[in-house]
Amino acid sequence: MLYRRNFEQTKIVFTNKLSSELIKRYSKDLLTLVISEKIAKLYPFLIKEFKECSIDVIPFPDGEKVKTLNYFNKLCETLLERKIQKETILCAVGGGTLLDLCGFVSSILFRGIKWVAVPTTLLSMVDASIGGKTAINSKKGKNLFGSFHFPLEVFIDMNFLNTLPESHLRDGLVECVKCGIIRDKKLFEMCLNANLNDCDSLKLIVKKAQEIKFKIVSKDPYEQKGERYLLNFGHTVGHSLEQYFNYRISHGRCVAKGIVLESALSYIQGYLKKEDFLNLKESIEKISSQTPPIRNLKLVWQNMAFDKKNKEKKVMYVPIKAIGKPALTSPFLAQINFKTLNKAFFMVKSHLSKINFDRTI
Ligand SMILES: NC(=O)c1ccc[n+]([C@@H]2O[C@H](COP(=O)([O-])OP(=O)(O)OC[C@H]3O[C@@H](n4cnc5c(N)ncnc54)[C@H](O)[C@@H]3O)[C@@H](O)[C@H]2O)c1
Repeated sequence: MLYRRNFEQTKIVFTNKLSSELIKRYSKDLLTLVISEKIAKLYPFLIKEFKECSIDVIPFPDGEKVKTLNYFNKLCETLLERKIQKETILCAVGGGTLLDLCGFVSSILFRGIKWVAVPTTLLSMVDASIGGKTAINSKKGKNLFGSFHFPLEVFIDMNFLNTLPESHLRDGLVECVKCGIIRDKKLFEMCLNANLNDCDSLKLIVKKAQEIKFKIVSKDPYEQKGERYLLNFGHTVGHSLEQYFNYRISHGRCVAKGIVLESALSYIQGYLKKEDFLNLKESIEKISSQTPPIRNLKLVWQNMAFDKKNKEKKVMYVPIKAIGKPALTSPFLAQINFKTLNKAFFMVKSHLSKINFDRTI
């Protein structure tokens, strides 16, 4: 399957012959492959194939811990030791964390080299490999050092999902559900009924979620017009929770909680009907397991001070009006304060949503 898009020429290629597809398209002398150590272990035949084609292969750790300046430096130095050059094409094989790191490294080394993404988690297939955002974290917040650097191509081999643990499949499904909530009620329902063991139905969901992300990104590739903010629904709270839990709780789970809390905020601020909020809460809780208890909401709030959507030091989020519909037009953002967040938090936590909970703040 091949998609062509105008912006930055990124193509998505569905394949089950990764190494031959890469060799067909790129000179093996130019390719350097950075692969997640876990994938290298799980798929030794891939390493063998790449080595037989004389492609330089660098196994590298993954997980949120690699999205730091320390690992950024390690990867840059390793690549220089391997004598990569300005014309090198970096091929990154792994989940969203390794792709974010490799994309960022590619945008910096020699002031930018080309790169290709091979996502191996559901989340990275539908989200992290698409849209050209690359980033690592600062102690102050998530994804604060980054760049826009679009991969030339994204190669999707759905077979990678056969070894992905169910919890990580669910993480990916959360980003698909998010696409449904902001743009497509049908996709939302498909996600709720998804059979995680059925590759064909997952492929359909992947393609629909990618289409939605592509459409939004192509209107605003460099996040200058505000269109892209829509994709950040659930992420003002989600990113802040990741940092609050010291990145021990996955991106998908934190975003799931972020979706529930931002839906509560949408209800409290008068954008979303109560039954839609309750439906959303129940649906998300079916898809993703709960985060541990949040004991210090002030800290969560403080983390939000570094959210990249903030305007004039005010914390912003993306409210929704109904499943499939944002509440506002571009740039889609509304302001929140601590009092409203606190109210949303208690509404979700205490299950007051089940009985009458008034909107006044
Ligand atoms: N750049 C973007 O636009 C964008 C969008 C969404 C998310 N992200 C980022 O993506 C990251 C989350 O990505 P993720 O959920 O893929 O996490 P991840 O990269 O940490 O992968 C999750 C786990 O799955 C393992 N894994 C990967 N592929 C596997 C496979 N096929 N079989 C078995 N195990 C496998 C990894 O080793 C890791 O332990 C976050 O840092 C988030 O900020 C970026």
